[in-house]
Amino acid sequence: MDVRSYLKSKIPEEELRFIPRSFDIIGSREKAVAIVEIPEEIYHRRVLIAEAIMKIHKNVKTVLAKRSPRVGVYRTRNYELIAGDPNTEVIHKEHGCYFKLDPTKVYFSPRESTERLRIARQVAPGDFVVLMFAGVCPYGIVIAKVQPLVKKIVAIEINPIAYNYMVENIKLNKLEDKIMPVLGDVKVETSKWYGMADRVIMPLPKGAQYYLDEAFNCLREDGGIIHFYHWAHEENLYDEAITIIEEHARKHNYKIEILNKRKVLPYAPRVYKICIDFRAFR
Ligand SMILES: C[S@@+](CC[C@H](N)C(=O)[O-])C[C@H]1O[C@@H](n2cnc3c(N)ncnc32)[C@H](O)[C@@H]1O
Repeated sequence: MDVRSYLKSKIPEEELRFIPRSFDIIGSREKAVAIVEIPEEIYHRRVLIAEAIMKIHKNVKTVLAKRSPRVGVYRTRNYELIAGDPNTEVIHKEHGCYFKLDPTKVYFSPRESTERLRIARQVAPGDFVVLMFAGVCPYGIVIAKVQPLVKKIVAIEINPIAYNYMVENIKLNKLEDKIMPVLGDVKVETSKWYGMADRVIMPLPKGAQYYLDEAFNCLREDGGIIHFYHWAHEENLYDEAITIIEEHARKHNYKIEILNKRKVLPYAPRVYKICIDFRAFR
């Protein structure tokens, strides 16, 4: 049963259409957090909505309402605890990987699991990967599970709480020999890996473009692959991102070949998170 059907007999007909059809559940069968966007028109019904979610999904122990867009360098948002346990730390399972995290303190989106798998399937045996903006390390962990012959993944994250979860997650998934966690700013930290990467991943649509110099510098002398994320309006999804990439490639003396361009997820009305996978070569 969905939340709308559950609430049919409990709230007036004209309010039912505002009940959210979907929401995120982060966690496991034992303990999960639901994150829901509740329109202002039915905000006074939030506790009923939370109770309905917890009745239908028995593993959901906490319901949070989004109270801001993602903000700041850490890309976190404000939430209101509507019902349940105020301890919101969970272990999320995806593609056989475990991610321990508190969604109120770090960025994490369960909706990006397909994208993580898509990137992981492109990684080749022996690849040296620089993973910028690593968060709690979902990309790194999925990559190392899907491609166990990856040489090394250097995973850089600036939010100390996300970094601490990354360290725990690397242990939880027994990937200490594959993933090197780094706490700090990509601008500063990447210089240690200049000239070493076969592949650079840039999952920060708000601003990845300002780190493209570092990404090109990380590539091996003869080149490699970069996965570049950006936001774009649906009327012109890829031109701006490709222009930015081409300008940087010229500056760094690389030619580029676009391997793939795709809409990842909607971000705002008519605005999408996009990804461009490209090869840089001399
Ligand atoms: C959009 S989130 C993606 C996190 C993770 N890759 C994931 O998919 O769940 C971007 C992450 O980059 C981190 N970040 C932002 N600016 C950074 C910087 N200059 N250096 C390192 N990390 C940064 C944020 O703290 C945040 O965790």
